[in-house]
Amino acid sequence: MFKIISKQQLASNITSFWISAPDIAKNAKAGQFIIFRIDQYGERVPLTIAGQDKQKGLIRIIFQHAGKSTLWLSTLNEGDSIRDLLGPLGHPTEIENYGTVCIVSGGVGTAEILPVIDALRAAGNRVVSIVGARTKELLLLEDDIRKASTELIVATDDGSYGVKGFVTNVLADVLQKEKVNIVYAIGPAVMMKAVAALTKDKGVKTLASLNPIMVDGTGMCGACRVSVGGKTKFACVDGPEFDAHEVDWQELLSRLGAFKDLEKVSLDEFKNGGCKCRRG
Ligand code: NAD
Ligand code: FES
Repeated sequence: MFKIISKQQLASNITSFWISAPDIAKNAKAGQFIIFRIDQYGERVPLTIAGQDKQKGLIRIIFQHAGKSTLWLSTLNEGDSIRDLLGPLGHPTEIENYGTVCIVSGGVGTAEILPVIDALRAAGNRVVSIVGARTKELLLLEDDIRKASTELIVATDDGSYGVKGFVTNVLADVLQKEKVNIVYAIGPAVMMKAVAALTKDKGVKTLASLNPIMVDGTGMCGACRVSVGGKTKFACVDGPEFDAHEVDWQELLSRLGAFKDLEKVSLDEFKNGGCKCRRG
């Protein structure tokens, strides 16, 4: 069992937990993820590790209440426990001294960039973070990201804060003005696809942190299958980061939508108080 030590509401539908998980906290590196299962009946859900405190043995997860399992997770409080946390999983982000790195994050993907920024800065990089949200209320961790980055540019779709428009509008401007050695994208798949199209045109190497559906997280089930450079890869063991110019984005988008109807049925049932035997 993994105890929730603190809970914070970052936006109306986004929650942060610090959880006691000493072995994961000791071993995790930037870009790695965990799979949680709330109880013995729970779905297995992957989440990137958003922070760690090795001394206290804690890891941080930040999640949007998107489906049944994350909504259920959001009902837990300090002192409650999660049955399983498997991790750290996946390859860590490749950290080198690249020069200037642009981190492009959108929506709840932003929750996961701090460890990557910290590691890139520690390796001597100049880090320009471009962070997008639909509206100001959904902008995450602005102060922390501003402190950690060399420069932060915020974009909101509705113009309620920062530059009005998508992160790709801002990235296009930055690429116009200065030499960027590598771009790192994390967020909704449509955003990462658009970032990849832009940087491919400009010949700038780009890594994307993919978020396919996962089940076991150990390369056995095939649920997280993605096509990269015409080859089949498993995001859980070969990724989650891949060369964004080689990813078959259309396939990823279509696989992400494969269970949308069933996910909605499950979410509605949970909201209506059904399936009590599976609510812990
Ligand atoms: P969102 O729809 O609010 O979009 C966030 C930002 O992405 C927007 O503000 C915009 O700047 C950019 N964006 C969106 N569509 C774009 C497009 N077509 N072109 C260019 N830029 C675009 O994001 P959200 O609701 O927070 O996203 C949730 C999704 O993110 C879920 O599907 C979740 O699985 C995924 N996610 C991915 C990761 C990952 O590891 N890649 C991590 C967390 C969440
Ligand atoms: Fe099963 Fe990756 S989640 S193979």
